[in-house]
Amino acid sequence: MFDGKKLYQSLSLLGSLSLAFTIPWIVFKVCRAIHLKRNYNALLGKVVLITGASSGLGEALAHEFYKQGCQVVLCARRRQELERVRTELLQTHPTVPTIPPIVHPLDLSDINTLPSHVDKILAVTGKIDILINNGGISHRGSVLATQPDVDIKIMLTNYFGSAALTKAVLPSMIKNKSGHVVFISSIQGLMALPERSAYSASKHAMQAFSDSLRAEVAIHNISVTVVSAGYIKTELSRNALTGSGGKHGEMDAATESGYAPGYVATEVGRAVVQKKKEILISTLVPRIGVFLRKYLPSVYFYVMEKRAQKHSF
Ligand SMILES: NC(=O)c1ccc[n+]([C@@H]2O[C@H](COP(=O)([O-])OP(=O)(O)OC[C@H]3O[C@@H](n4cnc5c(N)ncnc54)[C@H](OP(=O)(O)O)[C@@H]3O)[C@@H](O)[C@H]2O)c1
Ligand SMILES: *[C@@H]1O[C@H](CO)[C@@H](O)[C@H](O)[C@H]1NC(C)=O
Ligand SMILES: *[C@@H]1O[C@H](CO)[C@@H](O)[C@H](O)[C@H]1NC(C)=O
Repeated sequence: MFDGKKLYQSLSLLGSLSLAFTIPWIVFKVCRAIHLKRNYNALLGKVVLITGASSGLGEALAHEFYKQGCQVVLCARRRQELERVRTELLQTHPTVPTIPPIVHPLDLSDINTLPSHVDKILAVTGKIDILINNGGISHRGSVLATQPDVDIKIMLTNYFGSAALTKAVLPSMIKNKSGHVVFISSIQGLMALPERSAYSASKHAMQAFSDSLRAEVAIHNISVTVVSAGYIKTELSRNALTGSGGKHGEMDAATESGYAPGYVATEVGRAVVQKKKEILISTLVPRIGVFLRKYLPSVYFYVMEKRAQKHSF
């Protein structure tokens, strides 16, 4: 026989049980949101030096940190493009109570000049709270077809440049017992692709450098975040160097269909406020690739061999 009372009792038991789980869950979510908001508030007035701020992800990062109330220092080689970004920042976020961005052209591959650039920036801002090593160039071409000069140029810009700039900024961070260094690496810092030897090598080097650095500077209250990103829709493939040192000049399909730079910049911003040690921003297939390289290398070797034979960038 149908027992209405029993049904009512079990339903209300179910109701209280689910409430017992949902209420703490909601409380947890709200606390986390408040905590995150507080962390974002901590960005107010922070000085953020961004390399490669004249284009792509660096430009998006400038918007992300500027709108959180940071003073952004925009660095790259092309002054005119940096001025454009500065103007756009001022126009896009006119109500943000923030300090105007600073334009400071520099060439990462000219590593011996980097300490004096940092001194000049510090003379203006008084501090660098967050350094974002984002500037870089990519590469297209087989190992055999790539001139050693191209290997050097890519390594110099992506790896030695970022390492030297970090060394130049660190003493001021150590003195203040706080700071944050971010490295924009790539999925290719975890798993190399054919036709990209120089680029993959430079990002692997960056990855290792950051792990050493993170361990060393923890005692000085300095955080290190490494961002391994998948394809982002930027000028990277157009600016990539060919084996002979010319410009690749093409928007590759994978780059074209990559993440919006603004999306990646938001993820990087969150990783910084949460002081994440590393993040992976990627779709499933590259993640599987990284997993295979680490745990099933023979499968990775096979897939890469096939990819190299098919060539396709
Ligand atoms: N796009 C992707 O699919 C992807 C994926 C993973 C990681 N990343 C990484 O994201 C970072 C930004 O690249 P992007 O994708 O935004 O490409 P992008 O649009 O080509 O931007 C590269 C930036 O680096 C700067 N740069 C290049 N050489 C430099 C040098 N010698 N000195 C100073 N600045 C230099 C460029 O500015 P100037 O030309 O004005 O110097 C430009 O602002 C790179 O480190 C890249 O490896 C990109
Ligand atoms: C020192 O660190 C604090 C805490 O992060 C920061 O707010 C301040 O701006 C820094 N000052 C200098 C001079 O580096
Ligand atoms: C560590 O740095 C944070 C900001 O990044 C600052 O708020 C905190 O006071 C610093 N802690 C110490 C022990 O200096």
